[in-house]
Amino acid sequence: MSLLKQEQHGTTKAFFLSSAVWLVVGTFLGFIDATHLAAPEMLGNIPWIVFGRLRPMHTNVVIFGFVGSALLGSSHYLVYTLLRTPLFSERLGKLSLWIWNLSIAAGTVTLSLGYTQSREYAEWIWSVDVGIMVALALMFFNLLQTARRRQENVLYVSNWYVFGGLVFTFFIYFFGNAMWEPSTGAITGMPDAILAWFYGHGVVGLFLTPLAVAVAYYVIPIVCRSPLYSHTLSLVGFWTILMIYTHIGTHHLLQTPAPTWLKVLAISGSLAMIIPVMTVLVNLWLTMRGRLGYVHADMGGKFVAAGLLWYVLTCVQGPLQALPVIQKVTHLNNWVIAHAHMGVLGFAGTIGLGGIYFIMPRITGRPIYSERLADVQYWLVLLGMTGFFGVLTAAGLIQGSGWLNGETVYRLLPQIHIYMVLRASIGLLLVGGGVIGLYNIFMSLYGVPARSREETL
Ligand code: HEM
Ligand code: HEM
Repeated sequence: MSLLKQEQHGTTKAFFLSSAVWLVVGTFLGFIDATHLAAPEMLGNIPWIVFGRLRPMHTNVVIFGFVGSALLGSSHYLVYTLLRTPLFSERLGKLSLWIWNLSIAAGTVTLSLGYTQSREYAEWIWSVDVGIMVALALMFFNLLQTARRRQENVLYVSNWYVFGGLVFTFFIYFFGNAMWEPSTGAITGMPDAILAWFYGHGVVGLFLTPLAVAVAYYVIPIVCRSPLYSHTLSLVGFWTILMIYTHIGTHHLLQTPAPTWLKVLAISGSLAMIIPVMTVLVNLWLTMRGRLGYVHADMGGKFVAAGLLWYVLTCVQGPLQALPVIQKVTHLNNWVIAHAHMGVLGFAGTIGLGGIYFIMPRITGRPIYSERLADVQYWLVLLGMTGFFGVLTAAGLIQGSGWLNGETVYRLLPQIHIYMVLRASIGLLLVGGGVIGLYNIFMSLYGVPARSREETL
């Protein structure tokens, strides 16, 4: 049972390494995907990597594998330190990690073989879904048992977000994947579209967002050497995100026959999202004010601050593109792909990396293997993400305004070709960042300690 050995912080370490591996796999799959869009004939027609199969392989690997694992690994550490109690069971933690990873791997292989439930972010087949749900339930149980034994009575806001995030995710995953319908993973007609987008937005809003916010609330006050500006504000943000994010998924369906009352609810809810988002940003900004030097000097703090900046941009864009008048131009084109990368990679993924770099030295008791490589990865992610944003937003505006003027989809394709080539090229920065990150994270966690390295030189 050495795979499940009882090593302190073993679960967090293994989650971090998994995240780094999935980042390389996920960005590589994204790159092949992008090659299809830039040069559709180049890769021929190999069944297991056609665009339709590869796209969900990419999205699920990056969402659950890369960002999910980074944030879940951090969650195991921050619950432990904030409650001043060791994790209830490292063995259980490792077991949940293995089930998590094997499910992601099985989901990726089965998608490439053509097994899919064909609903966005819920493509994995039923048996894979069962694995994910079991892993989530085990993690929740383990962390809850830790909380029950806690030495610290005050529940700092990061704990609220971690526990809230796990509970929300368990339920949205169950209902969103229609788990009671194993053969299809779907119900029928318009209600299914509504359910699918309740789930689709839940994955980013109730899984990635709360866990990323938990990490930001943990890292920023420590690197700033200053208490959080307001605990009350942090809890207002927690409860409003729960109240609002749960029912805005229909903003993905404004141009469908979904009921009008639901669309109105989704649009007004999307505007109201400004409340939970601003509580987080204002609170952390007032904590950081005058102390940005400290943030910049810390590798983890730097990643987290960059992630928060993308959070501002994503969440200014989000409510605006939920307005029908704007969605007329932005819907179903590359504008949304830019927004998706901004949210999942720019915001949640960058904060996930921040959590990894911040926590690693604290659990290994030695510095990061190479600060310089971490800094290179930081710049590659920042430049890659900024490039994606510019190129995809421009391509989206060309498509959207062309369609609005009556142009057909295929006649606009030559005009966005250059943007697709640029996107594939910029994607290489992110693949490179992933490879550098994997090496650095592996060496920091399991490599030769810096002192021994010096001694051997
Ligand atoms: C870890 C980093 C990344 C994350 C978190 C990420 C996330 C996502 C997400 C959420 C989507 C779905 C977008 C939507 O449906 O609106 C997507 C699609 C896509 N991503 Fe990524 N991605 C990452 C890196 C990359 C890289 C490096 C490339 C390579 C160029 C890439 C290329 C693509 C492509 C081609 C699509 C499909 C776009 C389409 O359907 O038109 N991604 N990605
Ligand atoms: C204030 C908060 C936000 C609002 C109001 C919002 C709103 C929207 C809207 C209206 C769309 C659909 C656009 C369309 O199809 O025309 C969308 C798509 C998307 N959003 Fe957001 N967003 C917000 C924040 C975020 C965050 C923080 C993330 C990531 C963590 C995120 C990830 C995504 C993704 C992945 C999609 C693409 C879904 C697809 O595949 O079609 N959003 N968002």
